[in-house]
Amino acid sequence: MLNTFQQIRHDMLPTPTPQEASRQEFAKSLKHFVQKGLLPGLGPIFEGRAAPSYSKETGKVPANRHDIRKAMVTDPYFRHYAAVNRISQEMLWDSVIDSIEREQELLNKSASELSAKNAGQLVVPEDFVPPRYVSALDIHCMPGGYCGDEETGDDVSLGVLYDRGVYLYSMGYTGPFNDDMGRSVCNYLKRNMPDFKPKRILDMGCTVGHSTLPYKELFPDAEIWGIDVGEPMIRYAHARAGAMGLDVNYGVMNAEETTFEDESFDLVVSHILLHETSGKAMPRIFKECHRLLKPGGLMIHADLPPFDLMDPFTQFILDNETYYNNEPFWGAMRDLDQIKLAKDAGFPADAIKFDTAPMAVMEFAAASQGGYNEQTASGVADRDFTAGEFAPGGGWEVLIAQKAG
Ligand SMILES: C[S@@+](CC[C@H](N)C(=O)[O-])C[C@H]1O[C@@H](n2cnc3c(N)ncnc32)[C@H](O)[C@@H]1O
Repeated sequence: MLNTFQQIRHDMLPTPTPQEASRQEFAKSLKHFVQKGLLPGLGPIFEGRAAPSYSKETGKVPANRHDIRKAMVTDPYFRHYAAVNRISQEMLWDSVIDSIEREQELLNKSASELSAKNAGQLVVPEDFVPPRYVSALDIHCMPGGYCGDEETGDDVSLGVLYDRGVYLYSMGYTGPFNDDMGRSVCNYLKRNMPDFKPKRILDMGCTVGHSTLPYKELFPDAEIWGIDVGEPMIRYAHARAGAMGLDVNYGVMNAEETTFEDESFDLVVSHILLHETSGKAMPRIFKECHRLLKPGGLMIHADLPPFDLMDPFTQFILDNETYYNNEPFWGAMRDLDQIKLAKDAGFPADAIKFDTAPMAVMEFAAASQGGYNEQTASGVADRDFTAGEFAPGGGWEVLIAQKAG
């Protein structure tokens, strides 16, 4: 069961007691069981039970993900699956909270010390108002959400919760630094555009900077910025980079309307940002990317593959996030024509494409037959993607567009 990477510890993570650590492992394993033990049963239940009874009632064959949902929601096996999945999601965040509360004062003290070690700027405007699509709910059931409330102030607890919780959420499959998306896009750039040497890079919706830091590794001389609308995330990101000895700039900013100058970046990236925005925000973000890029600069968004790349049953499974995981834009985002959005934002039609960036963790595991370091158990290369995840088939889906030169 424990065929995943362990998270590498750094000075911004709390130390769980043995009981807390075992609760966290349990929450992670329960999630794994839902994926590996319960989810595979949904197909046979649909084929053998739910679809025939839907057809009997309606006289129709379930043709799309909406019909499939109607056929499945009353089935006891599906209800059991969906309930356990939701419980495991709530449990994984809960399992981290005790150790954060115990060390809250210490963690905040460490945050200001480590932040001071990061020579990059920390920009936190006083009057910033996050968009409602982020602040109005606890996305993917994370208590407190990304922004916290008026009492959060400069407390970084929510950033700590995200850092540890996302490791459990991804069951370790985003690597020992939770940075697989950024690392995979960096590998993609290295292989496909070896001459591309951006001097200024912006990571939109960076949360705690998991995906931002691989860009600093690949382009050590570049000026790197991570922005997010969640103040606790940005404060934590700045301190976490300090804990890792990296100078990276972070700012609380809305990707729809940043305060950066026109044509000031060579590369603008995001990693699983877009599906947590809205139908109104996405075109604005694409336009903002176009405004910020220098001529010839690249926009890369790693996010959910569009629904038209998969069969209706897989669409139905993935769309469960919309219904049961506080991800209201999850399904609608996959239906959008992102190529058209990029064209409308000003990118030339022949310079926009979808591609797959192979997952760095899987490539590493395949190359080293499962070993990453001494903390890693074997078997990562066996990973097969199922529900609630972002890119079926061992890769991250990337939308790439180049501004006219
Ligand atoms: C799933 S997280 C992104 C994870 C992160 N990019 C990574 O690779 O680890 C989505 C983030 O987008 C942020 N976000 C949502 N809308 C935003 C916007 N308009 N501008 C900036 N950040 C935004 C949220 O606050 C949240 O931190």
